[in-house]
Amino acid sequence: MSLDTAAVKPIERLASTLAGDMAQVNEMIRDRMASEHAPRIPEITAHLVEAGGKRLRPMLTLASARLCGYSGGIDHIRLAATVEFIHTATLLHDDVVDESDRRRGRPTANLLWDNKSSVLVGDYLFARSFQLMVETGSLRVLDILSNASATIAEGEVLQLTTAQNLSTNEETYLKVIRGKTAALFSAATEVGGVIAGSSDDHVLALRDYGDALGIAFQMADDLLDYAGDSAAIGKNAGDDFRERKLTLPAIKAIAAATTEERAFWKRVIEKGDQRDGDLEEAQALMARHGAFESGRNDANRWSAQAKAALGPLPAGDIHDMLGDLADYVVARIN
Ligand code: IPE
Ligand code: IPE
Ligand code: MG
Ligand code: MG
Repeated sequence: MSLDTAAVKPIERLASTLAGDMAQVNEMIRDRMASEHAPRIPEITAHLVEAGGKRLRPMLTLASARLCGYSGGIDHIRLAATVEFIHTATLLHDDVVDESDRRRGRPTANLLWDNKSSVLVGDYLFARSFQLMVETGSLRVLDILSNASATIAEGEVLQLTTAQNLSTNEETYLKVIRGKTAALFSAATEVGGVIAGSSDDHVLALRDYGDALGIAFQMADDLLDYAGDSAAIGKNAGDDFRERKLTLPAIKAIAAATTEERAFWKRVIEKGDQRDGDLEEAQALMARHGAFESGRNDANRWSAQAKAALGPLPAGDIHDMLGDLADYVVARIN
């Protein structure tokens, strides 16, 4: 890699390489998110879509399709838009469940409108995503994306029932993030390969890459929720603590807690009795027990696993960019 390309973020290099296709994806998203019958729908979808977002998942689909030599047709565009619709639907629902008030640097839809609108417009986007994937005519693609949708919901529900439970361990945490986040990453990459008619080992490699990338991505996101800065992440830091959600750094700090520290965790997480200075105390305990460091190591291992999964896939620019993307998703914590 030359010095001038090294200075450009992998996600931006991917975006410029895929710019033509992404313009079509964005056009399709704008076209399909509208509704003539219920004005609340375009109000909310426009609010979220205009806020941008990184468009990471649709780029993964386009990149995977191109890496595997897809040509002729617009199924890759349809699938990239499908994946972003599924993602956007889950964000609408997630912000209701998490009672979040910031998303993509803006107030959330549940705050600006209400929970009911967010849930119903989320459902609408889910339904639109299914219409789009059906247009590809591929049952295999339908199978992958409908499974991913069910898995995301399972991950979110599992998380709901493990929140506030101090005995949540890293195994359960992995199950949650594999479901709620990695399932869509791996479906996004897998369908790119499928639509290109790739061999089974290439499709499998893409799926494994997406899975490991999604896990690394969510681990980094969870570490930043405690160690990051609200302006930089476009969401409120400390949200997980206030929601009493047990993510990786908290699980690690609790596993290493002294009796006295356990009493603190019991009060703030189990009982939800949180006072001024408690977030800072939680952060101090995480630092004392090396929870950030250990979490960073875990995320870096998954990032390395994502890179390794690319092994069997065709060499070239896209291959390199996907490898760099695996570094990029953990760069913010390193
Ligand atoms: C947010 O995903 C949800 C998580 C899995 C943490 P992104 O960070 O990819 O969200 P946008 O689309 O860029 O806003
Ligand atoms: C994101 O999960 C939503 C899904 C992956 C379905 P989180 O609740 O952990 O992420 P943010 O912090 O709201 O983006
Ligand atoms: Mg959330
Ligand atoms: Mg959530």
